Amino acid sequence: MAENKTAAGKTKGSQARRPSKIRVGFLTSGGDCQALNATMRGIAKALYELFDSVEIIGIHDGYRGLMHGDWHLMQRDDFSGILTRGGTILGTSRVPFKTVRVPDENGGDKIELMKATYRKLKLDCLCVLGGNGSQKTANLLSQEGLNIIGLPKTIDNDLYGTDLTFGFQSAVDIASSVIDCIHTTAASHGRVFIIEIMGHKVGWLTLYAGMAAGADIILIPEIPYDINVVIDALKKREAQGKKFSIIAVAEGAVSKEKAALGKRAQKQAAESAPENSAVRPSVAYEIGARIQELTGQEVRVTVPGHMQRGGAPCPEDRVLASRLGARAGKLIYDGQFGRMVVIQNNEITSIPLSVSAGKLKTVDPNSSIVEEARLLGLSFGDR
Ligand code: F6P
Repeated sequence: MAENKTAAGKTKGSQARRPSKIRVGFLTSGGDCQALNATMRGIAKALYELFDSVEIIGIHDGYRGLMHGDWHLMQRDDFSGILTRGGTILGTSRVPFKTVRVPDENGGDKIELMKATYRKLKLDCLCVLGGNGSQKTANLLSQEGLNIIGLPKTIDNDLYGTDLTFGFQSAVDIASSVIDCIHTTAASHGRVFIIEIMGHKVGWLTLYAGMAAGADIILIPEIPYDINVVIDALKKREAQGKKFSIIAVAEGAVSKEKAALGKRAQKQAAESAPENSAVRPSVAYEIGARIQELTGQEVRVTVPGHMQRGGAPCPEDRVLASRLGARAGKLIYDGQFGRMVVIQNNEITSIPLSVSAGKLKTVDPNSSIVEEARLLGLSFGDR
């Protein structure tokens, strides 16, 4: 039987621990979120456990640092005290996937530049902590022959193949606290309050925060709304003697009319809207203006924005990040590259990067959570 060697050069199943060395790059890419540092700490801790000699290269500002050779050698101490620290100690940047094949400002091929840095640094593996776009690039680098491990980051929770991404549960905490605070002032004034929640093109964050904080109406991209149905839901509450209503709207929510136009026409309409029109800066203002116009009710809009990505990770995210990080360390030890660590049914496992790349995990309008929300009397503005 052929001997099965690990990345550490050890023979699997052998008892004796032999000297082993590993040189791993860490990179955080795309929008930041809570638990990026906790995840890096998790990988580092596992590597220090599994290997005799560990060198970790921290690449600065995501793929930009990989392109331009901007990095530093990290020390064991760098991973102390960062379990609870928000943001990323490495910095991040957005290098959208659609631009990675476009030459940089000096005419350089971005992917070739990244590969050159990887080789120059003599990395055994590169860990990419990132969301959808970043994991697509990670998959491309893996197909180009680099040893890559992906770690699923984003407050949007929209990465295909994992039940949860780190950052999501912390963002749910913040977004639901915002709605909690709005609740008391809404009750005092008897107004309609609209809270716009991040989430890019999906409604996970809005759905969870809305349910957690007892919103009355939840509008998400996966369930296009009809403004008249939203107004009916507001009237129903009024008829029940409720003085106020709370609408949690996802930043990507769309009306039925817009959804019927198709994606391209939606984009054109948004781009051609005058700077000061109601559709800018965001969907919450557009909905607020329509409600005020059609009902005469007083409406207020709150957009917590990047607050939702800030601060310390919640305990659930610290555990998730540590588990994903530890498992990533084990994948490196086992020499299993081209994979992303994921959580499925509360077990950490891994899937090929190619399985997840380019696919969005959206809220299924027919899922049980949506049905349960409807059973609670919540309106999705669709019927
Ligand atoms: O992907 C995370 C996210 O916060 C989205 O929810 C939001 O649409 C986007 O990033 C905001 O991006 P930026 O930080 O570039 O403004």
